[in-house]
Amino acid sequence: MTEDVSMVRERVEKLFDEQDRQHSGFAWMYENHIRLVEEEASGLLNEHGADEKVVKLAALLHDIGYLKDYRNHEQVGFEKAQEVLDNLGIELSKDRLALLDGAISQHGYSGNPEGIEARIVASADALSHLRPRFWAANAKKDDKPLPEFYDWMEHKIERDLDKICLEEAQEKAANRVSSYSPNLRP
Ligand SMILES: [Fe+2]
Repeated sequence: MTEDVSMVRERVEKLFDEQDRQHSGFAWMYENHIRLVEEEASGLLNEHGADEKVVKLAALLHDIGYLKDYRNHEQVGFEKAQEVLDNLGIELSKDRLALLDGAISQHGYSGNPEGIEARIVASADALSHLRPRFWAANAKKDDKPLPEFYDWMEHKIERDLDKICLEEAQEKAANRVSSYSPNLRP
């Protein structure tokens, strides 16, 4: 398992870095988002009986659809993920592929995605947004006037809180937001 996950991690980093350098001028997505989703997802694995390999692969591949179709990244994500796995010669069972598909295609929903792997990935995705380095990378990438940036950030935080569907992730999110919020807007 570890070897497959490492290969995917390495490939995903390379793919996002190439795309980011071309479109944003600096590599940001892997370093400030994707690897944090894997980290948050690993922190939510305990006690749920989820398939660890699927959760890690889905965390690494959940946004891979951006490389194919920016507007519909959730719909095309699984297809692109399969392409990455095929190129690396990684074969997964039908059951694991179905779980991976579910986790990738449902990661942006608010509410309760079907399957524990999908709930972990959706919650980890939202939790990973509640970190200053994610906001800092977006501020640099979008180069918006600050008031507009703060509007975007506050709106994003609200949407992310809505997306978190596991109790321990909700607790982590509430703690982070309450520690930031008094000073969020200068
Ligand atoms: Fe994401």
